[in-house]
Amino acid sequence: MRRNRMRNFSRDLMRENILTVKDLIYPIFIIEGHNKKEKINSMPNLFRFSIDLLLKEAERAFELGIPAIALFPKIDSGKKDEEGTLALDPDNLICRAVKLLKQKIPKLGIICDVALDPYTSHGHDGLLINNEIKNDETINILCKQALNQANAGCDIIAPSDMMDGRVGVIRDIMDENGFINTQIMAYSAKYASNFYGPFRDAVGSRNKLQFDKKSYQLDPANGDEAIHEVSLDISEGADMIIVKPGMPYLDIIYRTKKKFSVPTYAYQVSGEYSMIHAAANNNFLNLEKIIYESLIGFKRAGADGVFTYFAIEAAILLKKNQVSF
Ligand code: PBG
Repeated sequence: MRRNRMRNFSRDLMRENILTVKDLIYPIFIIEGHNKKEKINSMPNLFRFSIDLLLKEAERAFELGIPAIALFPKIDSGKKDEEGTLALDPDNLICRAVKLLKQKIPKLGIICDVALDPYTSHGHDGLLINNEIKNDETINILCKQALNQANAGCDIIAPSDMMDGRVGVIRDIMDENGFINTQIMAYSAKYASNFYGPFRDAVGSRNKLQFDKKSYQLDPANGDEAIHEVSLDISEGADMIIVKPGMPYLDIIYRTKKKFSVPTYAYQVSGEYSMIHAAANNNFLNLEKIIYESLIGFKRAGADGVFTYFAIEAAILLKKNQVSF
C-alpha cells in the first residue's frame, strides 16, 4: 500500500475526494445599524454585521467563488415577543438584507432560515403554549415566514425548526404564490445538540431559553430516527437535506446519501467552529490543517457541501492551493 503513498504526485492521483470553494456555504450573522461590526465572544474571528457591511462581506465571499451564504439575524430583545411577530414583517432585518443582496449581487445564492428562535422572547423555534411547543400552530406561522422571505427574493428556504409536516406546507404555499423555483433545503436531521451554544450567543437566544429543545430536535443517540425524518422531508418536497451538527454525525450524512441519493449538506456548527479555534489558540492544533481535515471529512462521508463559519478562510486557503496536510 505504501508505494502509492510514497510520492506527492501519486497521492494526488489517488485522492478520492476533493474540497473546492463550490462546496462551501457561509453562514453570516446580521444586526441593525450602520457601519457596525460586532465581535461574537464565543466565536473567535467572527462578527455580526450591519447590512451595509454585510454587503461587503458577501461581495468578498462571492469574489472568492463561494456559491451561497446563509443569513441569521440578531434581533434586539425589545423587538422579540411570544409569537415572534417580527418574523412576518416584510420590512424586517432579514428581508431588507435579502433585498439589498439580490439587487447588488444577484448571482450569490441566499439561504434564509425558517424558525422563530431569533424572534421569540422565549428563544424557542416554535409557539410556546402551556409549556409546550405547539406543532401545527407553529407551522401556520412558519409558512408565512417562509413566504415573507421568498417575497424578499431569497433563493433557498431552510426550515430549521424541526416541526412535523412543515416542508409540505411550505412547498404548497410557495407554489400557490408563484415561487415554484424557490428551493427548500430542509434541516431534516437536526439534533438536540450542545454544540449550538455559541450560535445562541450570536443570535441572543441563549439566556432566553428556559428549557431544552428535545421535544422537537433529535436525540443524539438515534440514527434510524434521523433517516426516517429525512425520508419524510423528501416525500414532502424537500430539494436538499441538511444534517446538523457535522462532525459527530458523519454516519448520518453517509446513510442519507447512500439511501436517498439526494443533495446532502453538513452543517459544521458554531460549537465545532469554536472548539477548533480554542484548540488552535492554545497551539494544541494547527488551525489551517484542521480546517481542511474537518471539511474533507464531510466530503468523504458523502456531503455535497458544508455550511461552515470557516468558509472565507477555507476559500482563501483553497485559492492559495494550501490545502493538504
Ligand atoms: C435555530 C438554529 C440553531 C442553529 C441554526 N438554526 C440553533 C438551535 O437550534 O438552537 C445552530 C447553528 C450553529 O450552532 O452554528 N433554528
